Amino acid sequence: MKPLSVRLSGVPKSSIRKLFDLLTQEDAISLGIGQPDFPAPQAVIDATIAALREGKGSVYAPTMGIPRLKAIIAQKLQKENNIAADPEKNVMVTNGGSGSITLAFAAILNPGDEVILFSPNFLSYFYVASYFDAKAVEAPRRPDFGPSLDALEKLVSPKTKAVLINSPNNPTGYACSRAEIEAIASFCIEHDLYLISDEVYEKIIYDGFTHVSPASLDGMADRTITLNAASKTLSLTGFRVGYLCAPEPMLPLMENYIQYTCAGTNHPCQYGVAAGLEQILKEPASLDPVIKAYQKKRDACYARLNEAGLECPKPRGAFYIMPRVDATGMDGAAFSRRLVESSGVAVVPGGGFGKYSANHVRVSYAIDDLKLDDALSRIERFVKSGK
Ligand SMILES: Cc1ncc(COP(=O)(O)O)c(C=O)c1O
Repeated sequence: MKPLSVRLSGVPKSSIRKLFDLLTQEDAISLGIGQPDFPAPQAVIDATIAALREGKGSVYAPTMGIPRLKAIIAQKLQKENNIAADPEKNVMVTNGGSGSITLAFAAILNPGDEVILFSPNFLSYFYVASYFDAKAVEAPRRPDFGPSLDALEKLVSPKTKAVLINSPNNPTGYACSRAEIEAIASFCIEHDLYLISDEVYEKIIYDGFTHVSPASLDGMADRTITLNAASKTLSLTGFRVGYLCAPEPMLPLMENYIQYTCAGTNHPCQYGVAAGLEQILKEPASLDPVIKAYQKKRDACYARLNEAGLECPKPRGAFYIMPRVDATGMDGAAFSRRLVESSGVAVVPGGGFGKYSANHVRVSYAIDDLKLDDALSRIERFVKSGK
């Protein structure tokens, strides 16, 4: 038989999926998956069912998304992100945040191009770049996981096409300040680079911190692609609906890509997401209880992991925390394997998020409080006694 795709054969199985294979214990607890633990809003479910009843599941959606959802996204971008977007020229509905990433890369990357990102970072960026024969170049984060402008300066080259940021961040929980976003934006203008801003965790942010969208800054709208999804904000990871806002010349290219790969996005679910985004626009405080609950879990993880000797900076957003584990004499991979084998708790080895985090693990705390408490107790015991 002739060889299969070289490009796809080189991609390892996701470290998170591998972890599930190890989770065999009956009372196992997974701190591995990045998935909200609250139910989707009733308004989303009702609107999706109504759309199904109207037969939307039997009809293709418009390739770029239904007009109602695109209009609400444009309103949301204006009100919440201070981004002026034309729903027909700048907005597109996608197959989740993952679909948004793929389309952003498809629109701007040519073979040999490089995208600089701060490392550790979300693993999909590395592999999706390779699907377009481009390379994700890792700029090491500061010890507090903040972005390092010095690292960007060292890595930029004629091959650099874009900088990619994800704030609040998976896996570190770091959220950039306005000054940091402004500095990265100035860097992109100075070096004539695109900026890809993955904002899927924009709403999950703590301690009164404010999310800043780089596309809202002067001179940035025509070089920034803003990525988002319904998955994390509305607890809709199973819907596979996301969206993006991009400069006008990019949209036809994205349309070319999506029409022949996906032929659009789930039709009935777009009505549900429209209802969910509309509800948040009308009642922004409706998310407060969810954020408060995450913040309580964040506080517990931050205090107990540091006390156990697993040093970690305090996350400002998302639902992840990333402790160093090398004080235990193990790297992230060994720690993760032995923890799951001896204590039935799954955490993700940091090496899956880039080359600067082999001595870390990622903990996702988006789980029930009692289970989280139990998992933290098991981690404390494991660190103390090795079991
Ligand atoms: C930073 C980041 N971007 C994008 C995604 C993908 O989102 P979706 O599940 O909507 O495809 C994730 C999922 O975990 C993520 O953490």
